Amino acid sequence: MFYESSALTRTGAAPEPLQATLFGKGTVQGLDGERHRRRKGVFVRLLDAEAAADLAGRVTQGWERIARQRSGQGEVDIYTASHAVLADAAFAWAGIPVNRHEMPVRRADLVALFDDAVRGPWAHLRSRRARGRAEQWLAAIVRDVRAGKLDVSTGSALAVIAGYEEGGELLRPRVAAAELLNVVRPIVAVAVFIQFAVHALYAWPQVRERTPWHDARHRQAFCDEVRRFYPFFPVLVANAKETFDWQGVRVHAGSRVMLDLHGTNRDARAWNDADTFRPERFLADPVPTYGLVAQGAGSVQDHHRCPGEALAVALIDATLGHLRPRLDYSQPPQDLSLDRGRIPALPRHRFQLGC
Ligand code: HEM
Repeated sequence: MFYESSALTRTGAAPEPLQATLFGKGTVQGLDGERHRRRKGVFVRLLDAEAAADLAGRVTQGWERIARQRSGQGEVDIYTASHAVLADAAFAWAGIPVNRHEMPVRRADLVALFDDAVRGPWAHLRSRRARGRAEQWLAAIVRDVRAGKLDVSTGSALAVIAGYEEGGELLRPRVAAAELLNVVRPIVAVAVFIQFAVHALYAWPQVRERTPWHDARHRQAFCDEVRRFYPFFPVLVANAKETFDWQGVRVHAGSRVMLDLHGTNRDARAWNDADTFRPERFLADPVPTYGLVAQGAGSVQDHHRCPGEALAVALIDATLGHLRPRLDYSQPPQDLSLDRGRIPALPRHRFQLGC
């Protein structure tokens, strides 16, 4: 119903504080119908298997660089290091030029867009300021590309989004900037899944020990189970355009409809043993339709389903390829609980990597 019903619209559905931080205004998340399908096509084409392989390679190199640079200097906080590795890979892959001096602020702004958006008034303000700064910076780059002042590699996210036209007109530079952020921001947000994946390695030692890590199918199943099991993006929202009945419930025009993602991922009606971390379920049982909704559901082209699912899995997998053999499992953390009062939720323990 949430994906197929013509009685629902995404336009204006996300609360303003989320549009002003996480999503941006005028972006694909708030479009409906043909306009959505066309703009969505840009993301679907950009985020193909080749992009996933390219980015995964850059991420592996990023972790190797950290290992070399930090060798003998003690421990590295994995969450913070993931932000740097993912942001550097995202900017380079997208063709967005960032000089060495400005890199710290550009990385921090990407993190603030998803990590600070709904964490109290001060963090929220930080997130709003980060969006303003990042959009202004990228809008100037988009103008330079269009004016021919900046060389940009053909087919890169920057070139494609800067040149994308709707109804015969280029996107306003600020909207193009927000769409560029829609590509690079979520790549950095994969850092949250990386925290959960590392948490799973410690919390479920029997899974860690029995998984044949050399087998790509088992690694994919592990990543899918991380996406199913852990809470990340909590709910999706849409507005009812007209009054309708659904399964005995009257939904009034103008009311907000929410889809509970984590609740669906852990619903015992859809999953056997829903509260157990068991990657093998993705090898044996067919995945229930509309069961795994960690990144939305429905059709990627026609609905709002995330176009970055395969990419997210590839980046978790590339990172685990580096981290898994290097983590010290002889000293598991005392506190393996999750901080669910935080959005995004994170393990309370800050995992470290010995260098
Ligand atoms: C970090 C892990 C990720 C999570 C938890 C996540 C989650 C989601 C969710 C829940 C949606 C909304 C689905 C809906 O409205 O029905 C979405 C949409 C979207 N995601 Fe992701 N995503 C992730 C990674 C990515 C990546 C790596 C990219 C691209 C590089 C990406 C780009 C997008 C875009 C552009 C949309 C908007 C699609 C639309 O409105 O049609 N996401 N994502």
